[in-house]
Amino acid sequence: MAKQREYWVCGSCGGDHAKWQGQCAACGEWNTLEQVRGVAAAGGRGAARGAGGWAGETSRITALADVDLVDAPRIPSGFSELDRVLGGGLVPGSVLLIGGSPGAGKSTLLLQVSCGLAKDLGVLYVTGEESLQQIALRAQRLELPREALRLASETRVEAILAAAAAEKPRLLVVDSIQTLQTEAADGAPGGVTQVRESTARLVRFAKETGTIVVLVGHVNKEGGLAGPKVLEHMIDAFMMLEDASDSRFRTLRGHKNRFGAVNELGVFAMTDRGMREVANPSAIFLQRGEAPAAGSLVVVVWEGTRPLLVEVQALVDDGQGAHPRRVAVGVEGNRVAMLLAVLHRHAGLQLGDQDVFLNVVGGVRVAETGSDLAVLLALVSSFRDRALPQDLLAFGEVGLSGEVRPVSNGQERLREAAKHGFRRAICPLQNRPREGVEGLEVVGVRTLAEALDAAQF
Ligand code: TYD
Ligand code: MG
Repeated sequence: MAKQREYWVCGSCGGDHAKWQGQCAACGEWNTLEQVRGVAAAGGRGAARGAGGWAGETSRITALADVDLVDAPRIPSGFSELDRVLGGGLVPGSVLLIGGSPGAGKSTLLLQVSCGLAKDLGVLYVTGEESLQQIALRAQRLELPREALRLASETRVEAILAAAAAEKPRLLVVDSIQTLQTEAADGAPGGVTQVRESTARLVRFAKETGTIVVLVGHVNKEGGLAGPKVLEHMIDAFMMLEDASDSRFRTLRGHKNRFGAVNELGVFAMTDRGMREVANPSAIFLQRGEAPAAGSLVVVVWEGTRPLLVEVQALVDDGQGAHPRRVAVGVEGNRVAMLLAVLHRHAGLQLGDQDVFLNVVGGVRVAETGSDLAVLLALVSSFRDRALPQDLLAFGEVGLSGEVRPVSNGQERLREAAKHGFRRAICPLQNRPREGVEGLEVVGVRTLAEALDAAQF
């Protein structure tokens, strides 16, 4: 048995400290340390210290070549968009954490998954947030099969584990991790100590029994997961269900996945019948007005394993205050600042006294650099108040010296654009396929200046 000890854990980064201090030495946050009594979580510094030296048993060592190469079996969740983000489906014995702000649809999605799988798999759905009646009513309203799903309203981890051990479900859903309480640690539910220790117990249960454990986690106002970041080290996969304000679309994005790629994006729509998958996301994000509008341009971004067409909108207007405003929704603010500097230096456009607003339509968050060129062209289009043709699209990364750099999967992006009826594309020269793309006139450019020429600015 490892020895019980007292230590302090940072609520923001999960760092261990031997004594209290005002600022976390690991991440620099103030006032985040919380006292913890118990066995240090696996992976923490305490765990290494607790391991007995030479006197103990030695671990069994295997040659890499001798390790079984059987792929982890996958269980389809019933939602191909969820399976896509999972990397093919649920993996037995794995722990998945789904984060998201309140109202994103986490409980709804998991209830739909649970009801769908209950008949074949054996599912235990534990809620610490809603009453059993609320869940039953929701299942009835969504017309989900209600016969096979087993429910419990419980927040004590020990009781949940005992119930799961008796019930032997192959899928255990716990909503949410912030409501859990374990006897093994002090502190209030939702605090670092409780969340961390409760998760550790559920992870151990998953590994020992081969049960799939799905945890729900809330995010705090900064957008991070409430509770310690150290959770992310314990679990196998972590994904966030993101909702843009006043949009019914939800994106599910992988942030960590031990069994697949992390950059996958799943798209759902919240309807009056619960969460529905959106099989062809490009089509919904592309609903545009009839007439071409200045400041609008479509970009093909690459999300995980597929292209996605989204519309970038820019509004450049005379500054209204002493400090011009820079607002970017769906694109990273720093990247926009950099692109504005590139625009000034390499295209001679001075936007220093202008308010600049950027928006990616549909609440999509574009994380890759392939949107640079489209952002710049949209900015210029708005600044000059000249609309770009509606059948034009652009993609490409733009460097600090005004060069346009190639991006991955150029040909697939162009083909997707052609499929959606686009007729002209401006893209990095290296991405221009030699044999061309049917129905699409592709202009390859090497610099921002060439791109502006191609767009006839
Ligand atoms: P919920 O799954 O409870 O969100 P979370 O668990 O992430 O907090 O979803 C709640 C929201 O979804 C709420 O604003 C109402 C809406 N909703 C629908 O629009 N349609 C539905 O069928 C359901 C069940 C919820
Ligand atoms: Mg909920």
